[in-house]
Amino acid sequence: MTGLFITFEGGDGSGKTTQINLLASWLESEGHTVVITREPGGTDLGTELRNIILHREGFIAPRAEALLYAADRSHHIHTLVRPALQRGEIVVQDRYLDSSVAYQGAGRVLDPTEVRNISVWATENLMPDLTVVLDVPASVAKERQAAGERQYDRLEAEAEDFHTRVRESYLALAAEEPGRFLVIDGESSIEEIHQAIVDKVSDLLG
Ligand code: ADP
Ligand code: TYD
Repeated sequence: MTGLFITFEGGDGSGKTTQINLLASWLESEGHTVVITREPGGTDLGTELRNIILHREGFIAPRAEALLYAADRSHHIHTLVRPALQRGEIVVQDRYLDSSVAYQGAGRVLDPTEVRNISVWATENLMPDLTVVLDVPASVAKERQAAGERQYDRLEAEAEDFHTRVRESYLALAAEEPGRFLVIDGESSIEEIHQAIVDKVSDLLG
């Protein structure tokens, strides 16, 4: 495959959407073809699954939740992401399998390695070239969301210690695979964060 696969991770409200849009604009200004996408919900099927996962009333068993995310991911990678990478395009994606390890693994009660293996199987082992983690304390992310007056989804409504476990899980994942991850202090300014990402992506593009 000739394209570049960049994923963004971090808590809800950590600044992923902001940085994805800035990075995509910069890449396009450099002449690259960019696909912006997200999980859950990057495809038609994914939109239906996203509604169920995030907005269905009532309990979803933890393993069922993990499988719903993996089903969304499998279809998304097969129908949208791999074809774009095969065309040589740059895919900039909001969340990928590290979200499942962090949220369904550390955040919930499942074994993180088992959760990861489900996604590896679901995607036929497609790993990102770069994963940017925007690292912010759970309390800061929550304040930003409240300021934006967004409607909370099922995961966002979890207690702060859940989000703190998610954050710690991301940092542990990054420490295990330093070659793939770029961890950035998400409390820096939007422009400073953007510049750090551009520096790293420029390196990857050679
Ligand atoms: P996410 O996609 O991770 O949920 P967003 O990009 O939507 O995050 O950002 C959440 C909120 O925080 C938005 O109101 C955004 O303007 C603000 N924000 C993003 N980055 C920063 C930053 N570095 N410093 C302060 N506020 C930020
Ligand atoms: P998202 O729409 O990216 O939320 P935000 O923009 O607020 O960060 O993600 C929706 C929620 O789904 C988010 O709370 C994290 C959760 N999630 C998982 O629990 N597991 C996963 O595998 C993915 C992709 C997301």
